[in-house]
Amino acid sequence: MELTEAIKTRKSIRKFEPEDIDLNLIKKIIEISINSPSGGNAQNWFVYIIKNKDVLNKIRGEVETVYKNVTGKDAPGVYVFFNEAPVVLAIVEKPYVGSIDKILENDDKNKDRNFDRKFIVNPGLQGVSSFIAHILLVAHNEGLGACWMTGPLIAKPEIENMLGIKSPDNLVALIPVGKPVERQSKSSRTGVEEVIKIID
Ligand SMILES: Cc1cc2nc3c(=O)[nH]c(=O)nc-3n(C[C@H](O)[C@H](O)[C@H](O)COP(=O)(O)O)c2cc1C
Repeated sequence: MELTEAIKTRKSIRKFEPEDIDLNLIKKIIEISINSPSGGNAQNWFVYIIKNKDVLNKIRGEVETVYKNVTGKDAPGVYVFFNEAPVVLAIVEKPYVGSIDKILENDDKNKDRNFDRKFIVNPGLQGVSSFIAHILLVAHNEGLGACWMTGPLIAKPEIENMLGIKSPDNLVALIPVGKPVERQSKSSRTGVEEVIKIID
């Protein structure tokens, strides 16, 4: 698929055919996506490829329990549909510490800059986000559907515990992947003029 077409036709897929997906295809998607940029070329990501239905159902159960405890309501479908996909990728952010971070960390005069860099600019998370965006596009190019999900991470500590993810690593997203059942049309987008300001 041509790049522009891939970008314009990709959409979040939340319904999947039950058929299995070849592990080699998942590895190929990740291998291509590793070409994504990252701060300092840190490549500070790691992927758990979850195919085991018991594990996926258990994760869903945790999300439902935590959501209910927090809100008093049942979790909406957009938080919990992931276990219906044949494969779910759990995306982990590994720590990224740039040379400037080491300087800011010990600099009392620049506490606010340190905070902004760490928690607002957050280059480590930006790198992993770019990796995730690549995975979605590459999966689409391979004829698969996927959805970037942070909703289930209301149960972040519980899921991390289940998968054995330990600090300083952080689970940042789940991506269900599978053969898409096309149901939704493409969601709308703003025009380009709404998101630009030209400084010439
Ligand atoms: C950071 C992030 C978190 C998201 N979390 C969820 C989620 O938990 N559940 C879900 O169904 N979709 C989730 N989405 C998908 C968005 O709803 C979707 O990308 C958006 O509505 C645009 O639709 P499109 O992807 O089909 O173009 C998430 C997307 C991003 C980038």
